[in-house]
Formats: sequence, structure tokens, C-alpha cells
Amino acid sequence: MTRTTPPELNALKVTGETDVGWDVNTLPNETADEEGNPTPLDRGFGVPDPRAPKTRSYDDPDVVRLRKHLKANNGLKGLDVCSPDEIDRAVRIYRRDGFVVVRDLLDAEKLAEFRDASARVLREILSVPGIDGRKYTTETGRLPHRYSYGTSSASRQLLHDPVWAGMVDLPTTTPLLKALFATSDYFVVGAGGDLCLPGAIEYQHLHYDQKDSGEITQGRLAHARQLGIELRTRPGTSELLATTHRLILERTPPLITINFLMSDLTWENGPIRQIPGSHAMQQSPPKPEDEPEWMRLSTLVGGKAGWGVFRDNRAWHGATPNLSREIRAMPNVEYGPPWRQGIARTMPHEIWQTLSPHAQHICRAAKADAGVWPAGAGVMHPLRRSREMAAGGEASEQDY
Ligand SMILES: [Fe+2]
Repeated sequence: MTRTTPPELNALKVTGETDVGWDVNTLPNETADEEGNPTPLDRGFGVPDPRAPKTRSYDDPDVVRLRKHLKANNGLKGLDVCSPDEIDRAVRIYRRDGFVVVRDLLDAEKLAEFRDASARVLREILSVPGIDGRKYTTETGRLPHRYSYGTSSASRQLLHDPVWAGMVDLPTTTPLLKALFATSDYFVVGAGGDLCLPGAIEYQHLHYDQKDSGEITQGRLAHARQLGIELRTRPGTSELLATTHRLILERTPPLITINFLMSDLTWENGPIRQIPGSHAMQQSPPKPEDEPEWMRLSTLVGGKAGWGVFRDNRAWHGATPNLSREIRAMPNVEYGPPWRQGIARTMPHEIWQTLSPHAQHICRAAKADAGVWPAGAGVMHPLRRSREMAAGGEASEQDY
């Protein structure tokens, strides 16, 4: 498919008002299959929102009604915000809630750099025109006007991009990561993030990114010891008490993501919603038709550009409607504990060489060998078929 760059894309920025989005020709709850057909049998991650407005139009009466409701009610009440140097408090809140908001992670220079890169990559994703009069191609298996920087990349990650790679070890994030993992030997697993365009009128279903197997391997047990968890056993046996088993699962997330905010999160522009305390749940989150209103409103309104959210990826979360005229982008970096397995080698050696010693250490499993370009790295496309072709049809994952 030919790529185009309409004027609105040339001017695209991930902060401030934009003409991007609000495509009335893209029907509510549409998604796309691997080739871009809008009515796939398998909707993938594009779970419909039964309460979505009827038209993707800024002035649609349902949109106006929802906007009024969100203005009055949106946002988690009493949201805790930590400074980067409040390590103990941030760890405490993270373990309690399964996420913590931390202010001022990016200085003005880093924020500008990340905004430019977020806009540059989004421009590439949107340069594939939509079919039958639609402005854009919806990403395979997602709701309209919502894209993932990670899954839109043919390598599944953006660690080949110097800007994303340059965010893995920041003076504001590394001390907190070291405290959360209780070691310097954690891993970078990947980098990407997500975004929604103005006119993403649907709620994304509540979900977790990763289900905990519940298995406590020797590596995970050793990590629990490092974290200072008292390993209590049934009298006369080496079998962990159920309460200890549970505590180990709570304290040892298989994945921690930092989402960086490129714009302020307002009641209107699609703030992420998080359900506090859901990170150790074994039950599944409610389906869209069953989700209570308090969960739909449990969003991180008040977060500012340059801040970030440290998320336990098991915690229930979801994107919310962007009824504004501003793109809401949240690029991310994902980290795994020392016992993490199966990290794909998506960071080119040349990029790895430019990093700080600590960044090199934590990227040791994500780094490709010298002279080996990670399959698909550098190709962005909303459709799975095109990404697979770019990656040579090969699985990009390798064990380390
Ligand atoms: Fe997610």
C-alpha cells in the first residue's frame, strides 16, 4: 500500500491542538484484520465498547453528553503523586496499588526529544491511508484511533530507535527501578508505548498485559529473598505457607513498565485508567458491558507532561475516550526481574554501544549480536501482514 503524508500529518505533534483524528468515516467499534479489512472474525484486542457514541464526530450528541459527564466526574480521587527522590514512598504506593505516578521524570530537553520521536513514529504509522474513505488504517486487532508503538513495529519493540533506547536509564527512573527490583540486575525487556488520536471515542476494555503464571521458580524464590520477604513454611515441611506464596507473587511482578506522559492527562484526552490493588488478582477484569462506572472513571487525570507511571503490568488497566483535539501519547520502557526469561533481541549492537554502562548491563538480554540487525526493526506498519513480511516471516523472539 502506498504511503502518503497529508499536510495534517506533516504538522503532527503529540501535544497541543491538531487536525489529526476525528474521522467520521471510521465507524464506532470498527477494527481491522491482518490485511486491513474492517470486519474480521477475530477482533483480537479490539473488544467493542457497547456504550460508545454512535458517530465519531466532535459534536455528536452522545459525544457531547459523554464529554459533559467526564468533565464532571473523570479522575481517580486522591491520586498519590511522588517525586523521583521519594523512593520509599513510591515503592510503598506501587506495591499497594500496582502502579505509582512519579513527577518530573523527564527534563525539558528529554521531554522535547521524546515528543519529537513520538510524533515522528506516529506519522509513519498514519501514513498508510485507510480504505473506503477512511483517513487512517486501523491497527490490526485494535479499536479505531488507538495504536501501540510496540506492536506497530515489525520487531515488536522500539529499542532500535536511539530515542527510546536513550530512555532506559535515567537519573530519575533508575534509582526507583533498583528499589522496586531490590537489585541492579534487572532487564530491559522492550520499549514502545501507546497512543490515542482525538476521536478515539470508545473505552478500551479493562485488561492486564500479562497474566501471572503463579509459579514460583527457584529464580523467583531467590528474588523474594533479595526483596527481604520472610519465607514462612508449613511446620515440619519446606512447603511455603499460602500467605507467603501469595506475598511473593504480589511483590515479584514479571514485568514493570514506565509510561512517560507526553501531554498533561486531562479529563478529556484519554487518560489511562488503573484499578488500584488489582495487580495480584487471579480473576479476570469485568467485561465492558459489566464494568462499573467507578472503574471507567478511575483514571490518572492530573498527570503532567514529563511525568510517568510505573505500572505492574498485571494490574487491570485500559485506555479511555479521547474527546479532545489533542493526541495522547505515552511511550514506554518495559523492565523484567532477574528471573525473566525469553527476552527478544531487538536492540541493535550499534545502539547498545552508545549507552551508559548500567544501560548496557540491563539491556544485555535485549541486545542483538554485532552484525545482526533485529528482524523487522525500523519498519512501522499498522497491519500485521505487512509487519510479518518486513520481519521476513520469522519470529523475532530469541532466548538469551
Ligand atoms: Fe495494556
